[in-house]
Amino acid sequence: MSSQSRRMVVTSALPYANGPIHIGHLLEYIQTDIWVRFQKLRGHECIYICADDAHGTPVMLRAQAEGVTPEVLIERMKIEHEADFADFVIEFDNYYSTHSEENRHYSEYIYQQLKSAGHIRTQIISQAYDPKAEMFLPDRFIKGECPNCGADDQYGDNCEVCGATYAPTELKNPVSVVTGETPIEKDSEQYFFKLAEYEDMLKTWTRAGHVQKEIANKMDEWLDEGLKDWDISRNAPYWGFEIPDAPGKYFYVWLDAPIGYMASFKNWCDRNDYNFDDYWKADSETELYHFIGKDIARFHTLFWPAMLHGAGFRKPSAVYCHGFLTVDGKKMSKSRGTFIMARTYLDHLNPEYLRYYFAAKLGPGIDDIDLNFEDFSARVNSDLVGKLVNIASRCAGFINKRFEGRLGRSISDDSLSRQCIAAAEGIATAYENREFSRAMRDIMALADRANQYIDEKQPWVTIKDEARHAQVQDVCTIGINCFRQLVILLKPVLPRLAAAAEEFLNVDALMWADLENNLLDHPINRYKPLMTRVEKVLIERMIEASKEDLVKEQNLKAQSNDPSIEPIDSEIAYDDFAKLDLRVARIVEAKRVEKSDKLLQLTLDIGAETRNVFAGISAAYTPEQLEGKLTVMVANLAPRKMRFGVSEGMVLAAGSGGDEIYVLNPDDGARPGMRIR
Ligand code: MSP
Ligand code: ZN
Repeated sequence: MSSQSRRMVVTSALPYANGPIHIGHLLEYIQTDIWVRFQKLRGHECIYICADDAHGTPVMLRAQAEGVTPEVLIERMKIEHEADFADFVIEFDNYYSTHSEENRHYSEYIYQQLKSAGHIRTQIISQAYDPKAEMFLPDRFIKGECPNCGADDQYGDNCEVCGATYAPTELKNPVSVVTGETPIEKDSEQYFFKLAEYEDMLKTWTRAGHVQKEIANKMDEWLDEGLKDWDISRNAPYWGFEIPDAPGKYFYVWLDAPIGYMASFKNWCDRNDYNFDDYWKADSETELYHFIGKDIARFHTLFWPAMLHGAGFRKPSAVYCHGFLTVDGKKMSKSRGTFIMARTYLDHLNPEYLRYYFAAKLGPGIDDIDLNFEDFSARVNSDLVGKLVNIASRCAGFINKRFEGRLGRSISDDSLSRQCIAAAEGIATAYENREFSRAMRDIMALADRANQYIDEKQPWVTIKDEARHAQVQDVCTIGINCFRQLVILLKPVLPRLAAAAEEFLNVDALMWADLENNLLDHPINRYKPLMTRVEKVLIERMIEASKEDLVKEQNLKAQSNDPSIEPIDSEIAYDDFAKLDLRVARIVEAKRVEKSDKLLQLTLDIGAETRNVFAGISAAYTPEQLEGKLTVMVANLAPRKMRFGVSEGMVLAAGSGGDEIYVLNPDDGARPGMRIR
């Protein structure tokens, strides 16, 4: 199997450009990177492709909230994502963006192909619309009360309290997350991909070994329910590619996202003089693999193969799904500090600890994977530090100090080496089948044997007997050679440790085929510790830092819900400032707002009149603390309809964006109604 070279393209899902990479994402990128590195180590041609998923409403709104263009946001995100991946030693052959000319080209091409073959139709449909933001609202941008249990503040697609799923139109008292406005229903024409026409093709494809059995079962359910045509268009304003000949209509982000795999690959081909069509033509003999999370299976196992098929391209050789990462048995949680950003992890811990831990837990199925930090420390410390690295550190000292850093000319016993070779094919099969946990178990069993061998031979005793020195060199040569084989077997998982080991062993980059030979009569370098133990305090600090990340992220969230907030660095003209009517106001009454844990309802006296204002300050003040106080309000802010009533202005307060809020007070002597200038 390994003698014949294969040609493969491998992808991981394209991370959204609206937020940072977190450890949940990393489960996927580490899994894929290990698989790709394994293929390369075996001498196959394997091209690892990825990109940022740059389009869609969340990216558009986040850019607005930050007061930048989407182009500026996606460029910055891509740089951050690439740095995070590189620091986790995830090595793409190409990392691109879906906002690229190549992607526009292939999106338009595939669309045109489908359209001219009669696979696209239009229909007028009614959707939720925010009349104030003048935009149609995706389900996640509508909140309201759950129609099932009545819980407040639930998204338009499902309830996080009772788990019910529903259409956004079923929510009670719905509001737009963008403006707080009540959404209305509005008709518009949309473009649909006639997925139902691919039912037979998909039924065959599902059962032809391209997906895991759990996914095949899921697909059977979807196919039995009957396939609905897929809405591939969105109305302006939208951040994406405009549909050719359809002004004001854009491709839905999920249309151009998977095409981004092709576009990134095309970009790589052009720079490396490869022929794109060899890999994507319908009868291509190359292999194509997509690694994804189970949440996006439908897009990759129904829509994507149908689009490729309909447009005359090859379909994936396989779609490999993985489960979700949980921490301590629960969904990652921002308040518990278990929603850990890639960068926060990197600030505290060695990335290869996590690579190894994930490898030790990953199987071929779609079960969720749990990260438990006790278990994490125990595994890394016992397997990598206690077993693997220990072999080298036990043997290196003798070779360096007593034998001028030279390994013996021969070895007296090759049984350890032969055991490694014998186990290697099974380990390779485990890697190939994504049974990484099995591969790690088998490798650690070999490491145990090597340590037992050294324990039995006791070189630290033998060295005291001048006559038996040659035996010490022999034992240590055997130990170091076994260590070298283990490094080869672990190289897909621990590329940095492997590079440091190659430096210590004074050898070129090791390949899988190097398992077969021994390193004899060879000078090695001085041993430097290859890995240190996981320290508990570093984990604790990382969790603390993650809780702080939460505050920063919340600030941004608060802003992205309110596009009217301008960033601090955007200059305004004096005239703009002069438009503000700021008044001293007396808080004559303050009340809690039922069903809201943020808002207080204030009655403000500004001299000539009183105003009703809803202020998001109840985390910091009780009504009693406010009544009678003087403050400052924006008196000429356009009234805003909220779900609890109309807010007629805004009270000024300082804050960090979290629960820390300070209402501004004028100095003694100020009177309600006075203008601030
Ligand atoms: N942009 C889409 C994918 C488009 S592919 C053409 C997307 N992006 S994502 O950023 O939300 O997720 C990227 C990948 O990370 C997905 O495969 C997703 O399943 C995976 N994960 C995100 N959170 C995860 C966990 N907590 N655990 C494991 N994988 C997770 O979806
Ligand atoms: Zn509910």
